[in-house]
Amino acid sequence: MKVLLTGGAGYIGSHTYVALKEHGHEIVILDNFSNANRLVLDRLAQLFQEKVEHVEADIRDRSTLDDVFEAHKPDAVIHFAGAKAVGESATDPLKYYSNNVSGSQTLLEAMDAAEIRNIVFSSSATVYGVPQALPLTEDHPLSSTNTYGATKLIVEDMLRALHGADPRWSVAILRYFNPVGAHPSGEIGEDPGGIPNNLMPYITQVAVGRLAQLKVYGDDYDTSDGTGVRDYIHVSDLAQGHVAALKLMNTGTCTPINLGTGTGYSVLDMIKTFERVNEVSVPYSIAERRPGDVAANWADAQRAKELLGWQAQLGIEAMCADGWRWQSRNPKGYDQTN
Ligand code: NAD
Ligand code: WQD
Repeated sequence: MKVLLTGGAGYIGSHTYVALKEHGHEIVILDNFSNANRLVLDRLAQLFQEKVEHVEADIRDRSTLDDVFEAHKPDAVIHFAGAKAVGESATDPLKYYSNNVSGSQTLLEAMDAAEIRNIVFSSSATVYGVPQALPLTEDHPLSSTNTYGATKLIVEDMLRALHGADPRWSVAILRYFNPVGAHPSGEIGEDPGGIPNNLMPYITQVAVGRLAQLKVYGDDYDTSDGTGVRDYIHVSDLAQGHVAALKLMNTGTCTPINLGTGTGYSVLDMIKTFERVNEVSVPYSIAERRPGDVAANWADAQRAKELLGWQAQLGIEAMCADGWRWQSRNPKGYDQTN
């Protein structure tokens, strides 16, 4: 298929580019580089010895979207573009409504006009709010605990309404759990600007000496060791999940699907495994709980297996080893002059 990746220069988008290329798909990236480094395009080009087809544009720019659809005529869109920092969504909510909600609306309007009605959407396990039961199935009630999550829910609702109104649309709503790690080449990986919000990039930056110490947010949760438990998924597995989700294009269905491993690990499991696998030390101290965190969540990953024939292959050792390969080879991320 020919696939447009909005936000394709970002962390998950760049890994999905690799997986799609390996499966012979044709790809165009559309990204405004608000949270990505242009150097990622050089790395992708090196991996495949081929120029990366890309457009520097914002998904809120309707006339450019029209031009892109006219010029490239993609069969489907995988829609990663958006802002994703939970904390920032509290202090700058309009950025989230604009980028995530208005941006998605503009994209869908342009797709409809161009008669491209196949979309894979990057949703998040955050739409389950506070888990009422574990594992989280796709039927778990939806709610939001922060503005970022609220915007993901609105876009999911927009997609359900659109499909309800016009069943020619095919929609795969992928609810990611906690993507971590990097491509095994060490050439692409997660490169957050500023201090990382998420656990794994924080661990890798402490290990490489960019940050002094990790704070473990709470050790008094009702979990095996008291620290928070999450369903970490290797970003390469997640990328393969997108390749598999293309099966749902042109089916006239609208389906939410969890992409997780089905297994939860604690913060201390992640630190200890990272230290053991990579033979590095990750100094940490126990701190207060982070407001808004839940004790534990992990996916019921059955639906992805049944509908997509996909399941995660890589365990936390690979997540830790590959995350470290990327960070240790690129201590400052893509731009070593930082
Ligand atoms: P990322 O920030 O690395 O990638 C997003 C990309 O979109 C960036 O390259 C950014 O420059 C681009 N972008 C942002 N706004 C844009 C706009 N208006 N127009 C064009 N491009 C724009 O994030 P990621 O981790 O790769 O996440 C991708 C998607 O997956 C996001 O929608 C995110 O909400 C969702 N998601 C991420 C996680 C996670 O933990 N990383 C978990 C669940 C869901
Ligand atoms: C994981 C665990 C923390 C940092 C977030 C978003 C979610 C989704 C994925 C986009 C928790 C602990 C973390 C640190 C720590 N994103 N932690 N010290 O919160 O599960 O999910 O990213 O959709 O919407 O909320 O991920 O990596 O921030 O935290 O102890 O410095 O690590 O308390 O238990 P989270 P995370």
